[in-house]
Amino acid sequence: MEAKVMKIIAYGIREDEKPYVAEWQEQHPDVQVKIVEELLLDSTVDQAEGFDGVVAYQQAPYTDNVLKTLAGYGIHYLSLRNVGVDNLNPVAVKENDFKITNVPVYSPAAIAEFSVTQLMNLLRRTKEYFRKFDRRDYRWAPEISQELNQQVVGVIGTGHIGQVAIDIYKGFGAKVIAYDKFHNPELEKEGLYVDSLDELFAQATVVTLHIPLFPETENMLNKEAFDKMNDGVFIVNASRGPLIDEKALIDALDSGKVAGAALDVLVDETKVFNHNMAGKNMDYPEFWNLESRGNVLISPHTAFYTNVAVENMVKQSLDANLSLIQTGASDHEVKFN
Ligand SMILES: NC(=O)c1ccc[n+]([C@@H]2O[C@H](COP(=O)([O-])OP(=O)(O)OC[C@H]3O[C@@H](n4cnc5c(N)ncnc54)[C@H](O)[C@@H]3O)[C@@H](O)[C@H]2O)c1
Repeated sequence: MEAKVMKIIAYGIREDEKPYVAEWQEQHPDVQVKIVEELLLDSTVDQAEGFDGVVAYQQAPYTDNVLKTLAGYGIHYLSLRNVGVDNLNPVAVKENDFKITNVPVYSPAAIAEFSVTQLMNLLRRTKEYFRKFDRRDYRWAPEISQELNQQVVGVIGTGHIGQVAIDIYKGFGAKVIAYDKFHNPELEKEGLYVDSLDELFAQATVVTLHIPLFPETENMLNKEAFDKMNDGVFIVNASRGPLIDEKALIDALDSGKVAGAALDVLVDETKVFNHNMAGKNMDYPEFWNLESRGNVLISPHTAFYTNVAVENMVKQSLDANLSLIQTGASDHEVKFN
């Protein structure tokens, strides 16, 4: 009897991902992978009919209706090419009997290096200098810079990414302090942990976020938090937009409490990121306010975007989906409470 060909549909595949899908496909001739460029939405879910598993990556929500429709086609395996699962509704996951996998560690260095780069850009005021260059103003004053080795970097979240960031900051000679609900024994030995967020806010000249978005971490940096920080603090967020209350950040920038912010993620980023907005209007006043400032760097969720990370995201998500199809299990299954 001929072996059944397993069929995986991969949504939202970009040009830069296609070579890695092709490589994986070559190594798995018994699997048929269909590439779809569109995201997994109510309007595109029907393309999955007849497949055994789905691979996807997007910032937009995986709607309850998408999961219900997939379940209706007999599909219960969804493998994400990223870490975060916050755009899935856990209730709908359970109701539709889904197994979800993610790629928990695709390249912590990609995100850590990017967040440090952006802090360096803030400290060296590169956006302000580029703006002056555009006006053919080649004077250096008054945009005097600060040095990284002089900073007290408060790292919130010492998981995979936070740990790499800490190593890099130490290499630059910065003082590092850290906060996490769970302490990493190595960092504990080095005495890097403070006992509370308040303590971190009181000491840090830079606050960098490397924690997931949960209900308890939403708006972690709000007015009360900014009030507790040092005047002229720098904020780096390459984690998730809703960790910061954007209105409170704008007030803190206005008052000078915050000297600059590097944001790779925004609360309503799906309105803007990954779209060509040239000539288009968009109702997101906080974005326009932040974007207009010389001391705020916004990048469109690009911290992850390196060749190493993309290859790992594509191949590991396909591996996980295949494992679910073949065995009903995967080491990368995400448990929802
Ligand atoms: N910008 C990007 O392109 C990009 C890419 C990948 C990941 N991320 C974000 O980076 C985050 C961190 O990734 P990671 O791989 O280091 O995750 P990780 O799970 O390895 O580490 C997260 C750390 O946060 C800690 N934590 C969780 N809740 C906390 C709380 N309430 N208070 C204090 N600490 C808490 C955990 O104990 C853990 O040590 C991800 O959740 C994701 O949101 C962003």
